Amino acid sequence: MGAEFASKIFLLYLLIVMCVDGRERARDDSPVEGTHGEHSHAHPSSHMDHMDHSLLVFFTMNDLKVGRTMPVYFPKKDPSKSPSLLSREDADSIPFSYEKLPYLLQLFSFSKGSPQAKAMEDTLKGCEIKPIKGETKFCATSLKSMLGFLQGIFGLESQFKVVSTTYLTKSSILFQNYTILEVPKEVPAPKMVACHTMPYPYAIFYCHSQETENKVFVVSLIGENGDRVEALAVCHLDTSQWSRNHVSFKVLGIEPGSSNVCHFFPEDNLVYVPMPTMPNDVLVNVM
Ligand SMILES: *[C@@H]1O[C@H](CO)[C@@H](O)[C@H](O)[C@H]1NC(C)=O
Repeated sequence: MGAEFASKIFLLYLLIVMCVDGRERARDDSPVEGTHGEHSHAHPSSHMDHMDHSLLVFFTMNDLKVGRTMPVYFPKKDPSKSPSLLSREDADSIPFSYEKLPYLLQLFSFSKGSPQAKAMEDTLKGCEIKPIKGETKFCATSLKSMLGFLQGIFGLESQFKVVSTTYLTKSSILFQNYTILEVPKEVPAPKMVACHTMPYPYAIFYCHSQETENKVFVVSLIGENGDRVEALAVCHLDTSQWSRNHVSFKVLGIEPGSSNVCHFFPEDNLVYVPMPTMPNDVLVNVM
């Protein structure tokens, strides 16, 4: 039941990314490679032969080797089109609840049935579904509320830092084969919180943290066209509780619990990990 949601929310997220990309491309009128952006792809797992490129983010830890090549999808969004961040005061003055959707559609002047209305509905619904067992989740409507959630997870006294994917080169290619250039660097992550941006008229971060063991890596990738990406990847070591329908199992052709599952993050997603506390003697040595 719960694991099902985890797979749904990630799929929802992927679908949203596709829809947004599709809309952007439609606006730009640029040639469309591939077929994403189609709402009819709501069940990509049942048509794996027509698999959407945006599902090309999954792999296993076995693939984390120098020289390994795999197709990866990295969505690219124009930051100038990103929804703006609200202050906590402004965010708190607007209801954030599915029940208030009709009022919210009026407030933002979106007609019922429009793609924007659908996106708002999906985001509000996704934010209100109960977390799965062992998971803590929160939809932050401002940076301050995100900070509050992070302090709740890491503890008020702990320091934490953000890690994310960086595109080192600019190109419009969304998916291609990438080769791992260097030994992936593991980021110590005894705890981690992943925050995904959600489509909404203002910035919403869907943040969640799971108790099961994860590993976080920064992977240096080079694309066939020379594109360079410092890609953030998370590997979930225990997938035994995940739904059989989790899209990653279909993509990788594996069974729940039979293998770890890793995925790359797009550039606008954030992962928070604790800052290692440096023992005093190390500090002394450095000086
Ligand atoms: C990646 O490489 C494989 C093997 O050479 C090829 O079949 C596939 O079409 C390539 N994928 C992309 C997205 O270029």
